[in-house]
Amino acid sequence: MPITSPPSPRSTDPLFLRACRLEPVERTPVWLMRQAGRYLPEYRAVRDKVGFMELCKTPRLSAEVMIATVERLGVDAAIIFSDLLPILEPMGLDLEFAAGEGPVIHNPVRSPDDVGRVRELDDIDRLGFVMDTVRATRAGLDPSIPVIGFAGAPFTLAGYCIEGGTSRAWLHTKSLMYRHESAWHDLMARVARAVSRYLVAQIDAGAQVVQVFDSWVGCLSPDDYRRYVLPHSRTAMAEAVKRVPTIHFATGNPALLPLLREAGGQVIGIDWRIDLDEAWKTVGYDRAVQGNLDPAILLADRDTIRARTRDILARAAGRSGHIFNLGHGILPNTPVENVLELIATVKHG
Ligand code: CP3
Repeated sequence: MPITSPPSPRSTDPLFLRACRLEPVERTPVWLMRQAGRYLPEYRAVRDKVGFMELCKTPRLSAEVMIATVERLGVDAAIIFSDLLPILEPMGLDLEFAAGEGPVIHNPVRSPDDVGRVRELDDIDRLGFVMDTVRATRAGLDPSIPVIGFAGAPFTLAGYCIEGGTSRAWLHTKSLMYRHESAWHDLMARVARAVSRYLVAQIDAGAQVVQVFDSWVGCLSPDDYRRYVLPHSRTAMAEAVKRVPTIHFATGNPALLPLLREAGGQVIGIDWRIDLDEAWKTVGYDRAVQGNLDPAILLADRDTIRARTRDILARAAGRSGHIFNLGHGILPNTPVENVLELIATVKHG
């Protein structure tokens, strides 16, 4: 029997994991959504040689891209390099990232009859490249940097299936939702089961945290979220939340925050359309929060970046459970030195 008890494992756990669990930290952890991307010259150099989907399907390269980014930026967590949409391929959707156009799905789901051809994700091995990326990213990083897995939330993925790409108003999506409620729930249930399996597979491969992106659900009212979305988001996250800290992120409508909390997630992602202190009060102090600098602030001058970063830290008021992040992904035209300025401000004041 040891005479002295070993040091509490928790105090040596990575800052980011401790913040997810609402434990005290010496300083606020920081990482950024879309931290690896076109704003980085090193990323553009890789992309000059390989297409985006090919990059996602080459785990060695995907891991390298994220590891190099984490080392360059000095952030406290590494989200795997992948995308929201590859999960849709084994479900029968014909996905392409056309140069300069963003994602295109050539066989969108437009009618109730189309829903029947959206397949269950029975064979998770078809996404084996993502699990290989989790393993390669974990293997290449210092243990102090947790690896985050991710998936789209059912609404955002169903939206892409229905629209066939990104949309401003998501009107095909709303039209199916309002006109054909049972087909809508059938589609959402299929997507939710797939997301659940996919998150568990990433966790089994070594993801220490997962984030669920409901990037476009802010186009709905709270009543519609409750009726058409919440049960499916809950299903998608139910297994993950039992295993690892799960970050539930949405943008566009701060009135949804209490419902995001209800659907699940130990950490709630906050976009910039609400002040962080007000958001946290709304979410409840028994959950951690992640956010919430407007990514457009990174296009401003250094003094503005520093002042706005400090303002968010002040609103968190030293409470345990704040993870610094942007309110949405980094914009492609962001100067790298501004990103470094932001990170230095979070780390050193
Ligand atoms: O650095 C990281 O955060 C990791 C990788 C990551 C990407 N996409 C890489 C990517 C993550 C976490 C995502 C998530 C993602 N993908 C979301 C949710 C986040 C959000 O912004 O709300 C969404 C909506 C998508 C779907 C998607 N992927 C779109 C709409 C586009 C085209 C628009 C764009 O930003 O280019 C993509 C492409 C994409 N995903 C790129 C990257 C680095 C750019 C592709 C390229 O290199 O040309």
